[in-house]
Amino acid sequence: MSHIPVFLKETVQILRPSPSKIFADFTFGLGGHAKSLLSCGGRVIGCDRDINAYKHARILEAQTQNFKAKHVRFSDLHDHLPSLDGILMDIGVSSVQIDQADRGFSFMRDGPLSMQMGINSFSAADIVNQWDENDIADTLYLYADEVRSRSIAKRIVEARQNKKITTTLELANIISRGKKGKIHPATKTFQALRIATNSELDELCIGLQIASSKLKIGGKLVVISFHSTEDKIIKNFFRNSRFLMKKPQPVFPSSEEVKSNVRSRSAKLRWGIKI
Ligand SMILES: C[S@@+](CC[C@H](N)C(=O)[O-])C[C@H]1O[C@@H](n2cnc3c(N)ncnc32)[C@H](O)[C@@H]1O
Repeated sequence: MSHIPVFLKETVQILRPSPSKIFADFTFGLGGHAKSLLSCGGRVIGCDRDINAYKHARILEAQTQNFKAKHVRFSDLHDHLPSLDGILMDIGVSSVQIDQADRGFSFMRDGPLSMQMGINSFSAADIVNQWDENDIADTLYLYADEVRSRSIAKRIVEARQNKKITTTLELANIISRGKKGKIHPATKTFQALRIATNSELDELCIGLQIASSKLKIGGKLVVISFHSTEDKIIKNFFRNSRFLMKKPQPVFPSSEEVKSNVRSRSAKLRWGIKI
C-alpha cells in the first residue's frame, strides 16, 4: 500500500513547523504530509473521513505524543479543532483508495460500484441505478465536463432496465462500448460519480470556511488540488477571504517531482496567510 505525497517539500517550507505550533492535516490519507510536519517538531491533528486512513492515524497516535487522530469529514470538523497555526488540505482521492478494487473507484479493476470515501449517505451504484437520466447527465457535465454526458446517461438508463448496474467493470463497459482512445472513455464519468458520491465540492467549500475560522491571525492555509473545478473554488475562496497570498500562485510541481510521481502532473498548490 503506498501513496506518494505531492508538494511535500513546499508544504513543509510554507508551514514551517516547530514545537510551539499546532497544525491540522484535514486529509491524513497515509500520513505522508502529517509525518513530515511531525518530524520537523510540529504538533499535528490528522483528520480523514476514510476509516482505513483513520486506522493508520490511530497507529501513529499510539506511537507519537504530538499527534491526534480524528475520523471526520470537513463538514463536521468545526467542533473537533482548536485554534491552529497551519492547515493542510490535500484534496481528492489517495492512490490507496484507487488501488483497492473493493472501494470501487477504478474502471481498471473490477469491484462493487461504491466510490464512497467514508461517512457517506449513498454510493455511485445508487446514482446510476436510481437517479433520473437528466440528473445523471448534468452530474457528468458539471463535475467532469463530459461532452458525451447525455448519450452516456441514456446508455446507463437503458442498461439498468435489464439489470441493476453493480460493478465498476459493468459500468465501464456500458460507457465504452465500441469506443477506444488514448484516454479511457469512462474516465470522466468515474470522476464525476466520485465527486457526486462524496459531495466533494460542497465538502471543499465548507472545509475552506472552517479552515479560515480555525486559523489564528498569521496562520497559514495550504490547499493542494488536482482538478480545474476544485482549483477555481480554491482561487475564489482566497480572493474573497481575509488571506494574504504571496506570488507566484498557483505553485506547480517541479519537473523532478513530475518525473518521480506522475500523479503530481495535474497538481496545483495555493496558500495564504490569514490576516
Ligand atoms: C490525496 S489524499 C491525502 C494524502 C495524504 N496527504 C498523504 O500524504 O498520504 C486525500 C485524503 O483526503 C480524504 N478526504 C477527502 N475528502 C475529505 C473530506 N471531505 N473530509 C475528510 N477527509 C477527506 C480522503 O479520504 C483521502 O484519504
